Amino acid sequence: MRKIVKKELVTLEEFIIETQNQFPEATGDLSQLLRDLALAGKIIGQEINRTIIRDPKNPAGFKETPQERIDRLENFASKQLTFALRRSGIVNQIVTEESEKPLQVDKNGQYVVILDPLDGTFNIEINASIGTIFSIYRRVTERGSEPSEKDILQPGLQQIASGYIMYGSSVMLVFSTEGLGVNLFTLDESLGEFFLAIENIKIPKNGNIFSLNTSYYQGWNEAVKKYYAILRGEQGDGNISYRYIGSLVADVHRTLLEGGIFLFPASTYYPKGKLKLMYQCNPLAFLVEQAGGRASSSAKRILNMKPEALDQTISVMMGSVQNVLDAEKIIRD
Ligand code: F6P
Repeated sequence: MRKIVKKELVTLEEFIIETQNQFPEATGDLSQLLRDLALAGKIIGQEINRTIIRDPKNPAGFKETPQERIDRLENFASKQLTFALRRSGIVNQIVTEESEKPLQVDKNGQYVVILDPLDGTFNIEINASIGTIFSIYRRVTERGSEPSEKDILQPGLQQIASGYIMYGSSVMLVFSTEGLGVNLFTLDESLGEFFLAIENIKIPKNGNIFSLNTSYYQGWNEAVKKYYAILRGEQGDGNISYRYIGSLVADVHRTLLEGGIFLFPASTYYPKGKLKLMYQCNPLAFLVEQAGGRASSSAKRILNMKPEALDQTISVMMGSVQNVLDAEKIIRD
């Protein structure tokens, strides 16, 4: 595990340089990608703030329907991220959840970046947290060769980094690169700088917060209903809290910091689950595992799944090891 020089304040840039210095063989490429993503995150965060200030409910404000606002911000986020990631020439392909059509950036680029540019956007109306989710892979084909699906549809275990930028009461950048733990940075808006806020996040082994949308209850299978009944019955002693925001980044963020379990099971409403393996589940599962937690789909490790398509959805549970193991046991039985 890296040791950061003990200082009162550590900027993202200092963190990146210090981390890179520990690996003499590092090319600096990954550092560049993180800088580019952070820059896009600052710009997106600012645009979201401006949008919220121009309160649509104020007649003198911004004339947009909620859907138009969502579309505009999603497009904006997508453009900013693509723009930022194109500059360095080290990215081979970018795939965004919005277009789902891979964009070839540079034939000689070494990396593939998969993005959910702005997730949870229904929450914009109430100023609840929303986020950008990213996943970085090294391409498997030769540099210089034609763009290939092989480079994109890789199992989550092949990620070399993943993370999210959360736009909420503050903008936060949380990311992990294999073996370096999960680190959280908070943006100081006045300085335009991300500062290290929590180093090497470790998710509690067991938690008492459960997060799922119970309005799908009628559509769940018996195993999920049973798990839910156990939670309500055995732990209905005031020692359990249900928390569900309905914004993936925010729900997983809380789970990372406070422990417990986040679930989005399949149901008759979403027979194969709602959340997307490539854009949402893999990057967040990687983070949760790097923080010492567990992430599975029908009791199988998410990161081992061989993706079938970019828009593949799966059922999900992730969080504290003990909570996820308990849930898996019921599903297996
Ligand atoms: O994928 C979009 C999303 O808004 C996620 O951010 C969130 O976890 C999920 O959908 C919420 O879905 P529902 O409103 O059906 O519970």
